[in-house]
Amino acid sequence: MSIADTSCDILFFGALGDLTQRKLLPALYQLERANLLSADTRIIGLARDSEPADSINHSEASLRRFVPEAEIDTDTLQRFLQKLQFLSVDFGVAADYLALKDLLDQRPDRTRIFYYSTAASIYGMISANLASSGCIDERSRVVMEKPIGHSLTSSHEVNAAVGQYYDEAQIYRIDHYLGKETVQNLIALRFANNLFGNQWNQNHISHVEITVAEKVGIEGRWGYFDKYGQLRDMVQNHLLQLLCLVAMDPPSDLSADAIRDEKVKVLKALRPITEDIRDSHVIRGQYSAGEIAGEPVPGYLEEPDANTTSDTESFVAIKAEIRNWRWAGVPFYLRTGKRMPEKLSQITIHFRQQPHYIFDPEQRKLAENKLTIKLQPDEGISLQIVTKDQGLDKGMQLRSAPLQLSFSQAFEMSRVPDAYERLLLEVINGNQYLFVRRDEIENAWKWCDQILENWQDGNEPLPYAAGSWGPEASDVMLATDGRTWHENG
Ligand code: BG6
Repeated sequence: MSIADTSCDILFFGALGDLTQRKLLPALYQLERANLLSADTRIIGLARDSEPADSINHSEASLRRFVPEAEIDTDTLQRFLQKLQFLSVDFGVAADYLALKDLLDQRPDRTRIFYYSTAASIYGMISANLASSGCIDERSRVVMEKPIGHSLTSSHEVNAAVGQYYDEAQIYRIDHYLGKETVQNLIALRFANNLFGNQWNQNHISHVEITVAEKVGIEGRWGYFDKYGQLRDMVQNHLLQLLCLVAMDPPSDLSADAIRDEKVKVLKALRPITEDIRDSHVIRGQYSAGEIAGEPVPGYLEEPDANTTSDTESFVAIKAEIRNWRWAGVPFYLRTGKRMPEKLSQITIHFRQQPHYIFDPEQRKLAENKLTIKLQPDEGISLQIVTKDQGLDKGMQLRSAPLQLSFSQAFEMSRVPDAYERLLLEVINGNQYLFVRRDEIENAWKWCDQILENWQDGNEPLPYAAGSWGPEASDVMLATDGRTWHENG
């Protein structure tokens, strides 16, 4: 497809909001800079009481703030700002959409991309108003930001409301983790390398760890976060998507539905976390005051705007199990938290040891191959290999060292594109494979809902000091299985 074929109107609902200003406009700017937007693309910001000139100035200031200075060049910025316009629309007032319809009708033959970056509770209302004013046609696409709902029931309501006006083939549900370079690389790594393809099952893999740790706390989002908590905010979407990509069977091709069919099978095969295994399989934590990089930081309940009696979790560790032939007996340990010692997202695949061990018994633990897929920072892959130590005095002493592939070094990438750049490009090109289908999101909610229900009955979060790797119980959960998290060796 040539760029000229991708002429479109991209419309942002909630255009002055944090996500659009911090992430979406900068991502589109980068696409402009890489010459990936057709010359006549229109970017239309929609917000209530938006005064167009002020909104453009505000957006320019955001670009200068959120795009690294070295990547701002005056020509590109001018070209980009010429594509950008604002329209004041009160999303709840049907009559306001008529002006939008007139604007869209100036270019009737092109794809319209409606990007919903507001609270999900109004996605249905926006869709209804767009439809009644005649803005939606069969080529239109809608992009929906997470969180889509708060539970299976509420996500079902949002999906059903939007689904009245768009076919599933027109709907792009965002999970920005799917736009990360290394996440896409997981598909290449697994299905283009016979070495791994043959080993990717319970005969060869003992367990899998998925960690998504953040150094930041709640960052002024207490009101939002406290209603969701870490399970809904991170596990229901990002961690389960990563688990699916690691665990799914090979799709028959790279089409969106072939990949998504396989992911849904994994979600359906997850062992439900019933009450009897709640305490052994799920650890819930909330940070207390501590130190990060030598600086004191407040606890969750001491953050600005905090409700000091909240029992919302800022940390979750889960032992997930997948009930199928490929993964029987292989735990997937998931862990995610705020205020951890470092920002780190990585997947570690632990391979089983050889059936018969012949080296020094003391070194037995060393003889394990580990594949680490690092999403951030320093995107790359590292395979821990066991060799003999060098030197006449070393005998058959074992040594474990990594074979490393750092993407930035290997591919001479001057910068790693932000996930939203990839995702916006795929929406423009009409590829759904990096977006979440309705049955995926609903199956993920179903699994999480059960955990949430079990929490209602007691199960207060355990405290952990900011700057630590979570409550001790999370280490104990692995120790019970004779294992440790990666940072403990
Ligand atoms: C978002 C969550 O989806 O992901 C945030 O709502 C979280 O709470 C963010 O901070 C993490 O994303 P990333 O790309 O920085 O790992």
